Amino acid sequence: MNNLKVTFKHTKLLDKNIAKYTEQVAQIHEEFHEKAKSKTEFLGWLELPTNYDKREFEKIKREAEKVRTNADVLLVIGIGGSYLGARATIEALTSNFHTMLDKEKRNAPQIIFVGNNLNASYINDVINYIEDKDFAINVISKSGTTTEPAISFRIFREILENKYGLAEAKKRIYATTDAKKGALKTLAEKEKYTTFVIPDNVGGRYSVLTPVGLFPMAVAGIDIEKLMSGAKLAQDKYNDESLKYNECYKYAAVRNALYEQEKNIEILVTYEPKLHYFIEWWKQLFGESEGKEGKGIFPTGAEFTTDLHSLGQYIQEGRRNLFETVINIKNSGADIKIHNDEDNLDGLNYLTGKSLDYINRKAMEGTIDAHVEGDVPNIVINIEKLNEETLGHLIYFFELACAMSGKLLEINPFNQPGVEKYKTNMFKLLGKPGYEE
Ligand code: PA5
Repeated sequence: MNNLKVTFKHTKLLDKNIAKYTEQVAQIHEEFHEKAKSKTEFLGWLELPTNYDKREFEKIKREAEKVRTNADVLLVIGIGGSYLGARATIEALTSNFHTMLDKEKRNAPQIIFVGNNLNASYINDVINYIEDKDFAINVISKSGTTTEPAISFRIFREILENKYGLAEAKKRIYATTDAKKGALKTLAEKEKYTTFVIPDNVGGRYSVLTPVGLFPMAVAGIDIEKLMSGAKLAQDKYNDESLKYNECYKYAAVRNALYEQEKNIEILVTYEPKLHYFIEWWKQLFGESEGKEGKGIFPTGAEFTTDLHSLGQYIQEGRRNLFETVINIKNSGADIKIHNDEDNLDGLNYLTGKSLDYINRKAMEGTIDAHVEGDVPNIVINIEKLNEETLGHLIYFFELACAMSGKLLEINPFNQPGVEKYKTNMFKLLGKPGYEE
């Protein structure tokens, strides 16, 4: 079943702490929908599950099929919003050992992400790894000028051209960028690469349901139709201005109410290791959207039970400025039962016949109780199981909640002025023309 239920009973907030946002939420909701229609703000993602370019969608599927047949590896070159959504979705929906499986078992090219750092040893490892493999490149940059992916693209384009020759290399390069502007667009036009368009009114971190996320996912074998239909369900479900009935807006309001009570760190918790990169995507979405003007909840993540043996102590007894949002996947889809052992030297026979899902769930329930008792409010997002539809739903849920939450905080959730600061310093130090003293 593709549904999502949020439980707020583990916070000590009073109804009035939340209800006070009712009017503001309704106003922002209306403003969002008006602006999405008039395309006057970065709100294109709000209607993406229904209002997307159907021809581009078909082209994505067609081109992905080509890569699936002629490449062992797809290099996805991008940073921030231009890679995290694809990585989060692919890792969530494939085996934990996806990249290690042999090609027949994986039934898809390996997806390797590069251009998200400037580290020579990482890039060198990728160069060595692809040396004897057929590969293709998907370079993704909305601005078309971001340094990290631009450098990686220059390096890997050269390797591709040397390996296949200019004409074949061009057929193996896919550029996902702005429809009209930017260095990547200019280059793609000149070289006649296959291109995919990032809609004007969709910002990087809200772009997972555009070709930015969809093309790498389709190459990896993810059913992107189902992902979109899950997001559509969320679009319908949360198209309701009422704070009382709209769980997405309630999550946004509860976050703000907790923030007012000095809970300024939110930990997104999962008991499913496959959601590691989903947490990274979520951190970027909320961090870059809300952290400005000296305000914002610091988004971080934890994987339990693993991190109960590292961060657990701090969460239970450290500084009381935390709250947790737990993603509870009810059915892991692959259960294992504990068998009886005659000797019982490990003392585990009390678990005989119990499933690992059950044990993991009890760990979650025990942890929530412990943390709530320790004054760490908990919000629980329940989903039946992890699949394309539920993930599409979850993506839309968090995008909308993030935008609403940012507006309630009275900042602009669609810009990222602070990111420029390091770039300016770096360009100055590197002697980039125009950045001299
Ligand atoms: O969310 C954002 O806008 C950013 O994280 C961008 O995605 C990131 O900086 C990469 O930008 P670009 O796609 O222009 O290379």
